[in-house]
Amino acid sequence: MAAQPKTILLKDYRPSAYLIEEVALTVDLFEDRARVCSRLVCCRNIQAAADSPLVLQGRKLVLKGIVLDGLALGPEQYLLDDETLTIPAVPERFVLEIETELYPQNNTSLDGLYRSSSNFCTQCEAEGFRKITYFLDRPDVLARYEVTISAEQERYPVLLANGNRVEAGELPQGRHYARWQDPYPKPSYLFAMVAGNLVKIADTFVTRSGRPVALEIYVQSHNRDKCAHAMDSLKKAMAWDEETFGLEYDLDQYMIVAVDDFNMGAMENKGLNVFNSKYVLARPDTATDGDYEGIEAVIAHEYFHNWTGNRVTCRDWFQLSLKEGLTVFRDQQFTGDQISPAVKRIHDVRLLRNVQFPEDNGPMAHPVRPDSFMEINNFYTVTIYEKGAEIIRMLHTLLGQELFRQGLALYLTRHDGHAATTDDFVQAMGEVSGRDLAQFKRWYTQAGTPQLKVQGEYDFQARTYTLRLEQSTPPTAGQPEKEPLHIPVALGLLDGQGREMELTCPERQGEAARGLFELRNPQETIRFNGVGEKPRLSILRNFSAPLKVAYDCDEEELLFLFRYDRDPFNRWEAGQCLASRLLLGLVEDFRHNRPLVLDQRFVEACGRLLGEEAMGDKAFLALLLTLPSEEYLAEQMEVVAVEAIHASRLFARQTLSRSLRPLWEQVYQANRATGPYRYEPALAGQRALRNLCLTYLVTLEDEAAVQLALAQFAKSDNMTDQMAAFAALAHSARPERHQVIADFYQQWQGDPLVLDKWLAVQATAPLPETLAEVQALMDHPAFQLKNPNKVRALIGSFAAGNPLCFHEMSGKGYSFLAEQILVLDPLNPQIAARLAARLGRGARYDATRRTLMRGQLERIVANKSLSRDVYEVVSKSLGKV
Ligand code: TRP
Ligand code: ZN
Repeated sequence: MAAQPKTILLKDYRPSAYLIEEVALTVDLFEDRARVCSRLVCCRNIQAAADSPLVLQGRKLVLKGIVLDGLALGPEQYLLDDETLTIPAVPERFVLEIETELYPQNNTSLDGLYRSSSNFCTQCEAEGFRKITYFLDRPDVLARYEVTISAEQERYPVLLANGNRVEAGELPQGRHYARWQDPYPKPSYLFAMVAGNLVKIADTFVTRSGRPVALEIYVQSHNRDKCAHAMDSLKKAMAWDEETFGLEYDLDQYMIVAVDDFNMGAMENKGLNVFNSKYVLARPDTATDGDYEGIEAVIAHEYFHNWTGNRVTCRDWFQLSLKEGLTVFRDQQFTGDQISPAVKRIHDVRLLRNVQFPEDNGPMAHPVRPDSFMEINNFYTVTIYEKGAEIIRMLHTLLGQELFRQGLALYLTRHDGHAATTDDFVQAMGEVSGRDLAQFKRWYTQAGTPQLKVQGEYDFQARTYTLRLEQSTPPTAGQPEKEPLHIPVALGLLDGQGREMELTCPERQGEAARGLFELRNPQETIRFNGVGEKPRLSILRNFSAPLKVAYDCDEEELLFLFRYDRDPFNRWEAGQCLASRLLLGLVEDFRHNRPLVLDQRFVEACGRLLGEEAMGDKAFLALLLTLPSEEYLAEQMEVVAVEAIHASRLFARQTLSRSLRPLWEQVYQANRATGPYRYEPALAGQRALRNLCLTYLVTLEDEAAVQLALAQFAKSDNMTDQMAAFAALAHSARPERHQVIADFYQQWQGDPLVLDKWLAVQATAPLPETLAEVQALMDHPAFQLKNPNKVRALIGSFAAGNPLCFHEMSGKGYSFLAEQILVLDPLNPQIAARLAARLGRGARYDATRRTLMRGQLERIVANKSLSRDVYEVVSKSLGKV
């Protein structure tokens, strides 16, 4: 880094001095370069002073010429630096023509215009458009686009851009062109174009007002047979948004292009989504149930952005959660309706706790609406997305579905075609409900995971039950003091038979009737009357707020809720809470060399669940029987005891396996598939339960269990089952693991997405030889450092999904990661920065590890030509900014 990058502040936001009304873009693609000519119709913004200079952003472009109102500008008439093109004086209205040249074939950052599998594609969010042409590259400048693409006809028969194709034709020298117009004004980050040799899978959706929409998925021809599920998901999402929120699609065409090289999951460019092929391609033998669910969710997410993100966009990047939190909430609700609301809620809360809570408790902690950043790409985080979605969910909980729907409708009508802020969204919700949401807005501005302390006291004489609730939020970087939040707490009381007790609370009647209490003060007391027996408290039902509950109840109460709670989320939660307690107890025993014993009551409770497996939702049952992750256990410790956590969890799994062996075998056999694979929630649940049984059985690593897994590995007709057997075997210390690893590769060497699974399984094996294996895989033909999916599968999985090996005491895991970050940073800073965040959690570990991690951060920051992305993460991790 030549100079420390500057920090951008929300409080410095000013409207743009100039606006762009129309863009005509001509992009000529060649093998060694691209030429871009843009014609911009511009005007001065009303508030701006007449002498305001015009400052356009541009990065790594070769400027070939500028013409202002028909007159070519000489070099003395503008200023050019690494980031901007400034014209000191322009009239109130003017037409600017700019020609630039760029080199997509050398663009490894996958940001801007780049090549993937010999096709051209673009990624402009957040600030990639400035790598294509000089522009007012900010989300509050909305323009109408007309785009003309030309390329060699034979190599690039398909030419796509946003909107409608209005013209196409042949050109001399074997070239051709296509012209596209997008009738909707949009910010530059939603621009997209694609040129390639792709096949089209086509279908039609008729909107509820009777308009046909052409649906088109473009993939490389060998993937033609893997698009049916994506298409199906798109139609479901379109119908769902009409039914649930009354929102219809607004163009005649909806295109999705799948590319193999992509930094994130997918991108919602207007009318032309570009997807990581991982979130499009699926066939029963290559994709797991998890992949099918992921595809359905991401297709829906990008589709939902058409209203929440595109029709109404963000004023500036500090408002990112305005579109992301809201759209994640919408896709969560959609998936909940497809599978089961409770199962989906548990998946989401697990993600929040395993990934967002640690982020909120680390050096990169930031509010859902941050007030500063160096590099915006570092802020596409679980906090913006998942905690952002939790904020929207709390509004939904407070208002109820009907008022929420009205609030969304008001927000969308009021801001249609414009850029908005999170305040605008809350304002609309406040207006339709008549609620005062001023305090609620602190959820957007305060970082850190709040804690809710709960105490319950039963008075037998008075027949009252008194709840004392105390909220607090720990300090985070730059926010030493926190204000109390407005927290919706859903709760219930259960009697000795597990029946719901009526809630009588004269002071808070309305809240008691809904079972939803709204906390606003640091401490609150809620007294229930007419409580005939000591109740069991079911608190924070359905996880009604994203916080940590500290409720000091006894284990009997947790066992009771684990069996009887009517709220399925809290039933699962009681089991997780109990298991966490037991496991953390084992961690202490392990560290003091005491013998390990797993509480028999918990073993019995699991046995009872297995005995009742024929009844109820099997996906839910599989979740009830899954122990909390090592990540979540780590999150609950002052100083993370890496080896002890792993050993305790393994011991508990082995004990459950041994003690309940006949039941695991029985449930495994009872849930055999009865027909060919289909992705369907009930069948997926059955597979999840059956594969959980297999995984438990294999933890003992005995002959019978290994044979069972080997048979399933060889005979499965679908990837869900093959993968479960593969992972169980490859993570065992049995010698057979080498053979299945070789066989799996042999079978799938032609399929890059399946090979990502192959890499990830090896990288997450909790075995002493794993780091050496990962290092060897770096040279395997299945691995490519320039492909983010490969990097995530191998390096990312090792650093984020294998705590035992990554945090191995010698520090070899850390230095391996630092080395890769340094090699990757010049190629793809976005991906390098994400890996760097894994080295920033040292504060949670013992002195030895903390020092080792710090050493690697120092090693990285010593590098003089670091990207702004990695610099921000590393310097914040070192506490230097
Ligand atoms: N807006 C995209 C989404 O919702 C996120 C995204 C895709 C992105 N590609 C990106 C963000 C590249 C930054 C950089 O999911
Ligand atoms: Zn999104």
